[in-house]
Amino acid sequence: MVLVGAAVGVALALVAVLIPWLPPADSTEAIKIDDVYWFVTIICIVIFALVAGVSLYAVWKFRAPPDDTDDGAPIHGHTGLEIVWTAVPAALVTAITIYSAVVLHQIDTVPVDHRVVEVTGQQFAWSFHYPEDNVTSGVLALPIGQTTELKLSAKDVIHSFWVPEFRMKEDAVPGITTNILVTPTKEGTYTVICTELCGLGHAVMRAQAVVLTESGYDKWIAAEKAKAAAGGSAAGKTLFTQQCGSCHMLADAGTQGAVGPDLDKVLPGKNADFIHESIVNPNAEIAPGYQPDVMPGNFGDTLTDAQLSSLVEYLMKTAGKS
Ligand code: CUA
Repeated sequence: MVLVGAAVGVALALVAVLIPWLPPADSTEAIKIDDVYWFVTIICIVIFALVAGVSLYAVWKFRAPPDDTDDGAPIHGHTGLEIVWTAVPAALVTAITIYSAVVLHQIDTVPVDHRVVEVTGQQFAWSFHYPEDNVTSGVLALPIGQTTELKLSAKDVIHSFWVPEFRMKEDAVPGITTNILVTPTKEGTYTVICTELCGLGHAVMRAQAVVLTESGYDKWIAAEKAKAAAGGSAAGKTLFTQQCGSCHMLADAGTQGAVGPDLDKVLPGKNADFIHESIVNPNAEIAPGYQPDVMPGNFGDTLTDAQLSSLVEYLMKTAGKS
């Protein structure tokens, strides 16, 4: 028993220590949140070791001999012990509360000098608007070392914004604006994940977040502006990858979505009116094997006329090619 116990203990300790349980902490907020997490975890480990140690000692020391059928001696509490085991947990829980509140205040305080990105969730895509530059993209670009306030909203149902490496997570709720701060500390590409069950395409509601240097960020903004200025089918293609690609497969746009019909198959031979109608009134004609009311019916409201026509123009051009 002792040998088995020791072997299991060693194996579990190795599993606990050797596996990186948390994703890398790549924002200043993540480092603070992880500190709280480990603070609580270490307290739990110490208490568990203490309780397990006392239990094992009692089993070993006070075990009844085989011929002993007596009841144990009656015991009527121990005031000193009760005071200790009430006071110690109370002190620990208070310490956890205070530490958490301090960190929550730190990561929620909007600094005077910060950027803003407006994040919009809709079934089943994220879009990011950069008000300073009047740019909208399907990619969240953040300059390294600078605090960005993400103002979250939703067009249809509740979604939830999360980048595991940044730790910060917040619901995007229709009708109100919520916000979180992110100060990335490492260049790289991350995945924005929707963590609120929001419909059939929930699992594919992902976007890319890129952390760039200051100059890389300026270049990225300039490139996005150029794409938007190009208009027509080029703008339509960008829009397609942002708004439609998580649900629809289309080789030309490089999208892999499998929630809705494969556009490489259903698009050829369709005219502009049909494409337009399918976007703004998706229930008008449902492709065989698919259900109505899966594709959001509000694209006529959420897209501008110019966006709609560039999307139709792009899809017409693509339909003609295949
Ligand atoms: Cu949006 Cu889940």
